[in-house]
Amino acid sequence: MLITLKIIHMFGLFAGGAASIGNGLLLKKVITSKAPPPPMVAQTMGIIGKIGFAAIILLWLSGVGILVLSYDTMAMGWTFWVKLIGATAVLVPVSMMTAIAVKAEKSGTPPDLARMKVLSSIARGGVAIAIIFGVVAFN
Ligand code: HEM
Repeated sequence: MLITLKIIHMFGLFAGGAASIGNGLLLKKVITSKAPPPPMVAQTMGIIGKIGFAAIILLWLSGVGILVLSYDTMAMGWTFWVKLIGATAVLVPVSMMTAIAVKAEKSGTPPDLARMKVLSSIARGGVAIAIIFGVVAFN
């Protein structure tokens, strides 16, 4: 069970990182083009966004599972808590971006791209903190 959760954690890391880089690059292109993206690109960005959101949920579920199964939460050092702040700084903006994208999809209006850009920058910072302090905390 523990091994399965660790594998899920690593896949979550891979899928979340890939989604963040992919959609970040596309978002930059869309913003600089100052024109609405072709439907195929907009649709793909929506799918990549959902993959990223699913990855974060998997990271949280597997992370909590690993913690409960093999660590004493109360005895974790400060670096682990900084990692969790980083993970929260990923979960919150990515959830907001997903909500904005779903709302835009439903109403047929383009999402607020400037807001998406700020949120994705916050999430990228959170990923960096979660990875760096994750490695420091567990080594
Ligand atoms: C953006 C979110 C997250 C990222 C990028 C991330 C990243 C990482 C990385 C890189 C490691 C490997 C550390 C190493 O073994 O050297 C790791 C392990 C771990 N993470 Fe996360 N993590 C995230 C979210 C979480 C959350 C929310 C929790 C718990 C509530 C968590 C709990 C753990 C635990 C317990 C391990 C140790 C696994 C082991 O014993 O081998 N992680 N994480």
